[in-house]
Amino acid sequence: MNVHTNDPQAVIDADRAHVWHHLVQHKPFETIDPQIIVEGKGMRVWDITGKEHLDAVSGGVWTVNVGYGRTEIADALRDQLVKLCYFAGAKGTIPGAEFAQRLIGKMPGLSRVYYANSGSEANEKAFKMVRQISQKHFGGKKSKILYRDRDYHGTTIACLSAGGQKERNAQYGPFVPDFVEVPHCLEYQSLDRGEGYAERAVKAIEDVILREGADTIGALCLEPITAGGGIIVPPAGYWQGVQALCQKYDILLHIDEVVCGLGRTGTWFGYQQFGIQPDIVTMAKGVASGYAAISCCVTTERVFDMFKDDTDKLGYFRDISTFGGCTAGPTAALENLKIIENEALCDNSVAMGQRLQDNLLALMDKHKVIGEVRGMGLFQGAELVVDRDTREPLDEKRVQAVVGDCLKNGVIIGASNRSMPGFNNTLLFAPALIATASDIDEITAAVDNALTRVMA
Ligand SMILES: Cc1ncc(COP(=O)(O)O)c(C=O)c1O
Repeated sequence: MNVHTNDPQAVIDADRAHVWHHLVQHKPFETIDPQIIVEGKGMRVWDITGKEHLDAVSGGVWTVNVGYGRTEIADALRDQLVKLCYFAGAKGTIPGAEFAQRLIGKMPGLSRVYYANSGSEANEKAFKMVRQISQKHFGGKKSKILYRDRDYHGTTIACLSAGGQKERNAQYGPFVPDFVEVPHCLEYQSLDRGEGYAERAVKAIEDVILREGADTIGALCLEPITAGGGIIVPPAGYWQGVQALCQKYDILLHIDEVVCGLGRTGTWFGYQQFGIQPDIVTMAKGVASGYAAISCCVTTERVFDMFKDDTDKLGYFRDISTFGGCTAGPTAALENLKIIENEALCDNSVAMGQRLQDNLLALMDKHKVIGEVRGMGLFQGAELVVDRDTREPLDEKRVQAVVGDCLKNGVIIGASNRSMPGFNNTLLFAPALIATASDIDEITAAVDNALTRVMA
């Protein structure tokens, strides 16, 4: 059977017979067709039946930050692939050097870029660095890595070990030792909310440090704004408190920018919204907007220097990622960065993010089911609750019904799902950074109509 788009049913049949899709239960595909996406342009994608969709989640998982169909990225990729597609990362390449320099220019205080392929892999690199620093410099102490409830850092066993989403982790244990959880900082769903919450949230981390012993802890790994865990923007003062804890107890601060990285929140990186200085930053999705697979683990010179020791034959970072040597990644990333810069997409994220938030806030008058709207730039969430006083989360099935209604009507939105038991109740919005006012209004109109129908 040949798979041609002029024979849509053949494509659907091939997909149904042979593709194991990410993150979905396949039983329903016995009676319904899997959706096949065939084309994208700007903010829109078309499926194999010809149906058009406005994509409010940048490729489903907040990736295509510069939008679909960018010929400048494709042209640069073609030219580079013909010239040199690959060489193992023990050596350098022109796009690798050029992109690293441009990237570091956006990250004052950091200086080294380690290339890999996925967000999970970049986080694994960071974890390995922390473990090797522990072995080399602390006699095996300071090996523990703290992570936060509701945060997600990837899909590998080590990343799940650092994952604060219990339903994501379920059935995949046993996990890697020496990953320790600290509490989340979602004030809306915290019993101790109210005056002084940020200080208490920081103190809760300090309590874990004191319980475990600071000399056992090497790093604290956090998302700048928790993404799939419910779009959690930490309360004012939280980040300064976290930075102070890391300094006080000599703990490396590892910020996972896999989602917020490159413009999503309105600054190049999410951490830059809060005036903090991390030691390690990992990034993936928005680095090349999905035009090529690339992730980066970026460190300070201080971290890098801990591996520069030729008296220990095993003392350098003995890590490799075969496809971290593909030139496609940094080539696409360079063009992606130029687009964000030339088209002032960080500014657009701020302006359109404000519109998106204002529109969602306005929906609260009409739809009592929206308990809270929160986010930064073009990264917004709306938490759905049964009752605004008790803040009881809306059932996941009904949250998914809202997503399903929007999809049926040609707008792709997201929601936290199968992540936190009982709390998969936040609608997620992360449109491409090129979104216009009318795109934003179309997204929120679809949500308005979906809530009216689903909650009727
Ligand atoms: C915050 C965060 N970190 C890491 C990852 C893992 O990235 P990847 O799927 O590229 O491995 C994700 C994926 O959604 C993420 O949201």
